Amino acid sequence: RQPTDSPLYPLLHAASEFYRQALKNHPARQAAVSYLKKRGLSGLIARDFALGFAPPGWDSLLKHMGSDPLQQKAMIDAGLLIENTETGKRYDRFRDRIIFPIRDSRGRVIAFGGRVLGDDKPKYLNSPETPVFHKGQELYGLYEARKHNRNLDEVMIVEGYMDVIALAQQGLRNAVATLGTATSEEHLKRLFRLVPSVLFCFDGDAAGRKAAWRALESTLPSLQDGRRARFLFLPEGEDPDTLVRAEGAEAFQARIHQQAQPLADYFFEQLSQEADPRSLEGKAHLATLAAPLIEKIPGANLRALMRQRLTQITGLSGEAISQAPTPSSAPP
Ligand code: UTP
Ligand code: MN
Ligand code: MN
Ligand code: MN
Ligand code: MN
Repeated sequence: RQPTDSPLYPLLHAASEFYRQALKNHPARQAAVSYLKKRGLSGLIARDFALGFAPPGWDSLLKHMGSDPLQQKAMIDAGLLIENTETGKRYDRFRDRIIFPIRDSRGRVIAFGGRVLGDDKPKYLNSPETPVFHKGQELYGLYEARKHNRNLDEVMIVEGYMDVIALAQQGLRNAVATLGTATSEEHLKRLFRLVPSVLFCFDGDAAGRKAAWRALESTLPSLQDGRRARFLFLPEGEDPDTLVRAEGAEAFQARIHQQAQPLADYFFEQLSQEADPRSLEGKAHLATLAAPLIEKIPGANLRALMRQRLTQITGLSGEAISQAPTPSSAPP
C-alpha cells in the first residue's frame, strides 16, 4: 500500500521536527501556545501527538531545509512546498498554523494537517495526496492509540484532529479520525484487523449524521460474525471535543454506555424514518432499501438475523424480500 522506503520520509520527519521546535522556540510561538492552552491541551498531550507550529511567513521551512534543488523538488512532492506555476517561486504550504503530523502505523510522518489560530479560512489545511500519503486509507491517531494500548478492544471514529486529541487529553485514548474524507471500506477493513469493535461518534449536526449513515454503508462489508459497530449521536451543536471538555471523561463514557446504538438498531431506525413501516407502501419501500444492504454483510449469522428483523418489520418472507429490485440510492 505504501512504499517501504522513500526519500520523502526523512524530509517529512525533518519538517515535523522543525514544526515541533518552532512550537518550543520560535519568537512567534506564543499565539500558538496560547491557542493550544485555550483548547485545554497540556504540554504532555502536545508531545504525544508531536504537535507543532508552522511559523508565519512564506519561507520558514524552505529556508530551514536549505537550497538544494533536488531536495526542494522532493519537498514539493511531499506536499511541504508549493511551486507557483507562473513565476516558479516556491513557498511553504503550511504557514502560521498549528501542525498535526499524521503518522502511519509504524510511526513515520507521512503528512500534516494545519489549523489556523483564529477564524480564517480554510480552517484546516491538509497535505495533498503524495506517494506516501493516501487520504482514503489513513486514520489520524491510530498510531498514537496503538502505541498507548496494543490490545484495544474498541476504536472510536471521530471527524477531526481536535476531537482525537481532546479525547486523549481526557484519558480516552482510542479515538481516530478520517482526514476530512468519508469513512471508507478501506478504513474499516484496516481497523477490524486490529479491533473487534468500532464506535462512530461524529459531530452533532446534519453533516455528522449524514457521515454516520455513509459510515454504516462502508462498515457492512466488514461485518463478520464476532465484529460489531456502534453509533453514538451527540447533542446538536456538540462534537466530541466540546462535549468531553464540558462533561469530562466519566460522563462521556457513561454516555457511550447508555446511548451507543448497535448498528442493526440504527439501521432499522433510520430506514423506518425514510419509509414508514406503518403502511404497506412504506413496508415495501423499506424492504427495497434494506435488502441489498443486508446482503453486503459477510457474517452469515448477523445477515440471517437482519433478514429476520426485516421480516418482522415488513411481514415479508425472506424469499419475497430477496426478489425486491435494487434501489438506486440509499438514505438519508
Ligand atoms: P470540523 O470543522 O468539524 O473540525 O471538521 P473541528 O475539528 O471540529 O474543528 P475545530 O478545530 O474544533 O474548530 C472536522 C475535520 O474535517 C477536516 C479536518 O480533518 C477536521 O478536523 N476539515 C475541516 C478540513 O480538512 N478542512 C476544513 O476546512 C475543515
Ligand atoms: Mn502508494
Ligand atoms: Mn461538523
Ligand atoms: Mn467538529
Ligand atoms: Mn471541533
